[in-house]
Amino acid sequence: MKIVKLEEKHLEDLAEIDLMSNAPWTKDSFKTELSNGIARYYVAENDDGKAIGYVGYWWSFYEIQITFLAVHKNARRQGVAKALMQYVYDECVEMGTETIQLEVRSGNVSAISLYKKLGFVEVGVRPKYYGGTEDALLMDLAVKPKGNEING
Ligand SMILES: CC(C)(COP(=O)(O)OP(=O)(O)OC[C@H]1O[C@@H](n2cnc3c(N)ncnc32)[C@H](O)[C@@H]1OP(=O)(O)O)[C@@H](O)C(=O)NCCC(=O)NCCS
Repeated sequence: MKIVKLEEKHLEDLAEIDLMSNAPWTKDSFKTELSNGIARYYVAENDDGKAIGYVGYWWSFYEIQITFLAVHKNARRQGVAKALMQYVYDECVEMGTETIQLEVRSGNVSAISLYKKLGFVEVGVRPKYYGGTEDALLMDLAVKPKGNEING
């Protein structure tokens, strides 16, 4: 597996991943993101060059906001999401970013387990944020100085 920048050639694979991931993105929204100056997207490719997962974030000075993270169903529980988050974490260390922020559905057990394992802590709740029924949990991870690994 290798981690590369998102390119147009990945968009079909990402659409497939999103279909199985309850994701808010469409192919058009990814195209917009490709030209968004504050957005960065990275893709995990398997040995055949197929995208099996991706992560995106928006950068804003001392913090970044994860926009989405998803892994193809056939590639889950193999450390792909952790590798993508480690990649982002390393980039944050280089950029001097202090905090990684994200929002996650309160019922998304797998994602919450992952984020807690990586060291994220719950810092707030947006009640009934998703569809007027499901809460959004706000989670943060403090970025430590160079030489440290993300937890897990
Ligand atoms: C959440 C998601 C990204 C995890 O991807 P993944 O590549 O399977 O995660 P990893 O293999 O890197 O998991 C690392 C650790 O996270 C935790 N974890 C991941 N999936 C889990 C699950 N289904 N149940 C419990 N813990 C889980 C485990 O601690 C795991 O370590 P382990 O496998 O050694 O026990 C994936 O399930 C997914 O794409 N879900 C749909 C999209 C989504 O919900 N995205 C998050 C939006 S905020």
